[in-house]
Amino acid sequence: MFRTIATFFRMLRTGWVLVRHDALVPAEYAGAVPWFVRLFGGLSRIFAIRGRAENPGERFANALEKLGPAYIKFGQILSTRGDMLDPIFVKGLSRLKDKVPPFEMKKAEAMLAAEWGMPWQDRLATLSEPIAAASVAQVHKGTLTDGTKVAVKILRPNIREAMRRDMNVLHMVANLAEFFVPDTKRLGPKSFVNTADRAVMLELDLRLEAAAASEVSEAAIETGFFKVPEIYWDLGGKDVLVIEWIDGKALSDDTILTDPNYDCQDIGRKVMQSFLATSFDYGVFHADMHEGNMIVTDDGTLVLIDFGILGRLSPKEQRFHAEILYGFIKRDYLRIAEVHFEAGYVPAHHTIEDFASALRSVGEPIFGRLASDVSMSRVLMQLFEITEIFDMEMQPQLIMLQKTMMQTEGVCRRLDPKFDMWATAEPIVAASMRRELGIEGRLGDFLDNMDRARRTLEKLPDATENIAALAQAWANGDVDLSKNSGLNGSSPKISVTKPIAWAGFGALVTLGGIWAVSQF
Ligand SMILES: Nc1ncnc2c1ncn2[C@@H]1O[C@H](COP(=O)(O)OP(=O)(O)O)[C@@H](O)[C@H]1O
Ligand SMILES: [Mg+2]
Repeated sequence: MFRTIATFFRMLRTGWVLVRHDALVPAEYAGAVPWFVRLFGGLSRIFAIRGRAENPGERFANALEKLGPAYIKFGQILSTRGDMLDPIFVKGLSRLKDKVPPFEMKKAEAMLAAEWGMPWQDRLATLSEPIAAASVAQVHKGTLTDGTKVAVKILRPNIREAMRRDMNVLHMVANLAEFFVPDTKRLGPKSFVNTADRAVMLELDLRLEAAAASEVSEAAIETGFFKVPEIYWDLGGKDVLVIEWIDGKALSDDTILTDPNYDCQDIGRKVMQSFLATSFDYGVFHADMHEGNMIVTDDGTLVLIDFGILGRLSPKEQRFHAEILYGFIKRDYLRIAEVHFEAGYVPAHHTIEDFASALRSVGEPIFGRLASDVSMSRVLMQLFEITEIFDMEMQPQLIMLQKTMMQTEGVCRRLDPKFDMWATAEPIVAASMRRELGIEGRLGDFLDNMDRARRTLEKLPDATENIAALAQAWANGDVDLSKNSGLNGSSPKISVTKPIAWAGFGALVTLGGIWAVSQF
């Protein structure tokens, strides 16, 4: 009870900050809300501060920065939902900065002492002042007792409690929004806040970041496109992460663009291929691909850091996305459409041909034009529009993948204004498709089919019994094939469709198996 009242008062403060930034009911969207909300918005604007940003998303971002870490994280996650928000708003919101003043050295030392159960001097030879500070954690440079240079990431003191408090406010706002403005239900504010809550809480345990880095590191070694710093597990914990220090330049450093020692074209290619190869071949990807999270060493090696957010794709999603990209590269729109239908992403009341034609409207204008004139991001935005027309339910992981792909393309284009997304993607996607459709993929399909066959065989005794009973019922004239009824009257309880379906299914699986074997 006390907590709810406290949350309510915190919500009032949140509301006030939003009002001051004209971000509660921005004038730009007044037409989309009920009259009483519009009236309230109009009145609230009297209290707004002067000299506000033009863009409503930017005003919202400014308010979130003022409100603190949980709101900043919430805004960052919200800015990834280009599929459900006005693009102008998203553009403004994406300017959200995650830069806050560092916390004092004394507090950092206390956090290390609490995590290690001893003063930091017992474990490290040196520890610098913070070199970077964000809403969740800050980073120091240090050296181990053997002289190895390390990066020490330390969570902000009491950040978990602060995040919990702010998240409670966001839950309350989402509940109220769904209750008072039922139209917002379509956007699912409650489930969105739940997702954001989970994502934020995961970021507050640095052991999970270490695990994510280690998982991507395995893929990195195999692809050979990039590296991940080594993790010092024995020095890490919930509040502390210690990793190998990387000497080099962050890609956010503009001097890279003009320094002849850096081959920006090559770096751009590596950035995109790293992202695509881990996504399509290993089903994991770094979901925060901005320049600050990439370092290039003197010998040109690309190193990715900061694994707070990890994207994951199921094998089905990997294949789905690789096929879409491949389809666009090969201009095979029917195939892309089929993939969408097979995956069940487009409801069956639409036709494959209509969908293929809509895809053609996105893909065809691209060809015959210079790759540097065609932005992958624009293509993806158009795809989002199509998905709306065809009632597609977008999967959160795929939205995250597409958003990260846009972000990655942005990084590559900054490095190389003529960056050719399609040519860079082709070898990776083609290799991935060959694997899927080649021996490995066929073996995978074959094993899948065998597994299904096994499950079917397990059910076969039931099915044969059913078929026998069906035959008997048929002979007795008890079978009624009219709609809604398997059998007439109250005679034996057997469904007509089930055994037929099983028999058909069994036959299909067997044929599938024979086909797969014949392909070797
Ligand atoms: N291993 C490292 N080597 C060199 N610099 C690092 C390393 N890890 C972090 N940094 C520096 O600290 C900054 C913040 O670290 P990061 O892990 O990205 O934290 P945040 O989640 O706050 O963005 C990076 O942008 C980079 O400048
Ligand atoms: Mg970072």
